[in-house]
Amino acid sequence: LFLSRDNNAEVISLVSKDDTFQILYEKCYNPIFKFFFNKAFFNHFVAEDLTQETFIKAYCNLDKVRDYSTVESWLYVIANNTFNDYCRDIKRKEKHRNYSELDYNSIKYTENTPDHLLLCNEFKGMFGQIFMTLPPKYRCAVFLHEYKNYSYSQAATAMGLTLSAYTSLFNRARKKLKEATIAYLLRIDRELLTENEYNSLSKWIDPRHLSSDISDSIKQEMKDYFNEDASTYNNHLYQDYHNLIDHYLLSKYPIRKEHIVADFGMGTGIFAGKLSRYVKRVDGYDFSNEMCSLARQSFKTQKIENVMCKNQDFLYHGVSSHQYDYAYCITVLHHITYPQQAVQKMVDTLKIGGALIVSDFAKHKHTEIVEARSDLWYGFTQKQVHEFLKKSGLKNIWVEVRKDLSRLIHLKSGNTVLIPTIMGGGEK
Ligand SMILES: C[S@@+](CC[C@H](N)C(=O)[O-])C[C@H]1O[C@@H](n2cnc3c(N)ncnc32)[C@H](O)[C@@H]1O
Repeated sequence: LFLSRDNNAEVISLVSKDDTFQILYEKCYNPIFKFFFNKAFFNHFVAEDLTQETFIKAYCNLDKVRDYSTVESWLYVIANNTFNDYCRDIKRKEKHRNYSELDYNSIKYTENTPDHLLLCNEFKGMFGQIFMTLPPKYRCAVFLHEYKNYSYSQAATAMGLTLSAYTSLFNRARKKLKEATIAYLLRIDRELLTENEYNSLSKWIDPRHLSSDISDSIKQEMKDYFNEDASTYNNHLYQDYHNLIDHYLLSKYPIRKEHIVADFGMGTGIFAGKLSRYVKRVDGYDFSNEMCSLARQSFKTQKIENVMCKNQDFLYHGVSSHQYDYAYCITVLHHITYPQQAVQKMVDTLKIGGALIVSDFAKHKHTEIVEARSDLWYGFTQKQVHEFLKKSGLKNIWVEVRKDLSRLIHLKSGNTVLIPTIMGGGEK
């Protein structure tokens, strides 16, 4: 729009500052980046930082542009000044480098192993991409305070905002950045997570793992949690809940004596033990040693011999396809980073004609539960469970939210809540 000399100011005034900026950004990002890339001796990160800085300055000063036909050359003037400032800054630092800075640099130097550099570079690249998904106003707010070390009031002045307007914009921007980071790491659509889910997931994300798949770090913590907590799983309340749901789970599909079935995330084996009476063999998977050892003890006491305890992560290790007539997954999915992948994995293990049943918490809003129990998901909606099953290729899908099969949970605050159970399944 502003790159055509024929446009007049009236047309311009109809377009918001953000839209104008976005057009400028889309058209000129690459040329400006190249400009810096050449000047900064092909240093990608310096070029990226300086490009960012140029656009931030452009955004802050866009109101001052009177003639939009010259906006591109105006942008190059900013870029040139930014580069000159950068060179001056480097020279000044070299000149005034004191001993403490040297110490700092030498500490850094020891970290310059290929691994460390790779991690930093990967992280920077990744973070750059996430940052770019934020709307310009948010990017600007974060950039000024976090990257340029502007005080709140300096940043507010630079953006032409009051201090309180800036701080509230900055807080919203940080929140958006956190959400965008989590969504990026989970490789999911940002819209899929609620605010509470963002908060609960963010506490699991260890910065050391940011450049790799976060599910491994989350999984390790989850295993530790279940190892510590295993003994509480056999308490009365949990047995009561199983008494409520197990009959329903067992009667949903016709089970026969020749069947081989799986219980994924079997815990202390409450359900697997019951299932074992009706089938030839149950493979009970659980990655927690403690859970498995309690399950083994319980099977021994009950003289159950046809449950194979498989102390392993069912998502990764050697679980072959097409081996089970039925697979069950009870109250496990909300502890799993990528529930869709888990459902797919379980479906893969089914024989053609076999069926899967998943059971979990229906979607709820109780942060206290999620925090106390290290859950990742606030349960699931019918739509979500339906999608998990459908995307995994199952037929004859059914999903039910059952208030009559609710789980009673006592909270530390003294409150008690009842959470309906969501159950769903389908045939392969
Ligand atoms: C809330 S407990 C439920 C146990 C059992 N299904 C029940 O309802 O009694 C979740 C169990 O899933 C296990 N688990 C979670 N993710 C797993 C994975 N990827 N592979 C194996 N076990 C897993 C945990 O160790 C834990 O024992």
